[in-house]
Amino acid sequence: MDSILVTGNGALSGQIPIAGAKNACLTLMPATLLSEEPLTLTNAPRLSDIKTMTALLQSLGAEVSTLQDGQVIAMSSHDLTSHTADYEIVRKMRASNLVLGPLLARFGQAVVSLPGGCAIGARPMDLHTEGLEALGAEIELKDGYLHASAPRGLTGAVHEMRFASVGATENIVMAATLAKGTTVLKNAAREPEIVDLVECLRKMGAQISGEGTSTIEIQGVDRLHGATHQVVTDRIELGTYMLAPAICGGEVELLGGRLSLVGAFVEKLDAAGIDVEETAKGLKVRRRNGRVQAVDVTTEPFPGFPTDLQAQMMALLCTAEGTSVLEEKIFENRFMHAPELTRMGARIDVQGGTATVTGVGRLKGAPVMATDLRASVSLILAGLAAEGETVVSRVYHLDRGYEHVVQKLEGVGAKIERIKG
Ligand code: EPZ
Repeated sequence: MDSILVTGNGALSGQIPIAGAKNACLTLMPATLLSEEPLTLTNAPRLSDIKTMTALLQSLGAEVSTLQDGQVIAMSSHDLTSHTADYEIVRKMRASNLVLGPLLARFGQAVVSLPGGCAIGARPMDLHTEGLEALGAEIELKDGYLHASAPRGLTGAVHEMRFASVGATENIVMAATLAKGTTVLKNAAREPEIVDLVECLRKMGAQISGEGTSTIEIQGVDRLHGATHQVVTDRIELGTYMLAPAICGGEVELLGGRLSLVGAFVEKLDAAGIDVEETAKGLKVRRRNGRVQAVDVTTEPFPGFPTDLQAQMMALLCTAEGTSVLEEKIFENRFMHAPELTRMGARIDVQGGTATVTGVGRLKGAPVMATDLRASVSLILAGLAAEGETVVSRVYHLDRGYEHVVQKLEGVGAKIERIKG
């Protein structure tokens, strides 16, 4: 297993290009199942999760090819040979469950393995099944698989989700595009990746309104046609790299960044003493002066502070002046980066879903272990600012969500290299 060696090397400066959003691409790809005509995605990120979704769609019989070094994904699901998403694939990547809604809508049947738990939590699918059942699907759990059917097709309905789940919103909206009649989805998630999905579905002929708000209305149509769609910028990669000049000092411009993607996050950076300026090309980030200031953070569904930036923000706050309280309200076990940061001299007290961080002047490099995707990059950020060398092991977690990390950070003056293991 590869590892990454990072050596604290002072202030950063230069530009980092931000890729297309992993979490948009992972819901846009299954949308190909809704039409027998080709769907092409541009600005796609080059990530192992995208390779996993490609393998899943191909296992169903869809044609998926990547062009331009992986930045273009051309798909067609004219003839499928299977409607089963196998445990071997789903257990590796929960987002595989996003084939459930499209398969049900187009073929009236789907067999999708329950993802099983993952490092950050149990991650059940009850919100997905409740919504699809509201549209008339019959879903039964057998041998760890959801067996879903809608022999007479799906029928639009009014459904209010108990929690604004991102994936459940995506599955229900995709399914509703081909249902008979109108669906009104209440307490829908508002993430930019959902807005991007709806924009793509509309290009395919879907009739949808309200995306980005808590109520999405979908008029079912008989069929969807092909389209070409550009994947939205990845707001989590953007926020992650915004923290590099924040924790190291200096000034970095994040190409493709827009304030609209990271509103609540930027408010917290401002309170911590970090300046963010929107330019024609992206977002320019620099530390105002002196030490970063402690701030309290609570993760919430969009437009609140994103849970996917909590680990990275904790790394910054480990070096802040004062004490910060971080509350993780989305997942039940998303502080596994804390003990690893503690190995670097951080002072963090975790009690259930709350982590209290007392800032220290400077972290010290140490061998640490990545436990999940966002924890891995939190440790790299800490290593960029730490004294001495940090070796982050198990970087396969990193490859799931961050393309070309070493090159992007080297490009702004970081001392970082990948060690083949
Ligand atoms: C999406 O996961 C993202 N993944 C996650 O990003 C992100 O952390 C999460 O949304 C929250 O923003 C993709 O988009 C591929 P949820 P998802 O359904 O859809 C509970 C990353 O790092 N829940 O909004 O699975 C669930 O257990 C990943 O890129 C139910 O109880 O998130 C969790 O506690 C990590 N029942 C909470 O809701 C359900 O049926 C939020 O889950 C579904 C979810």
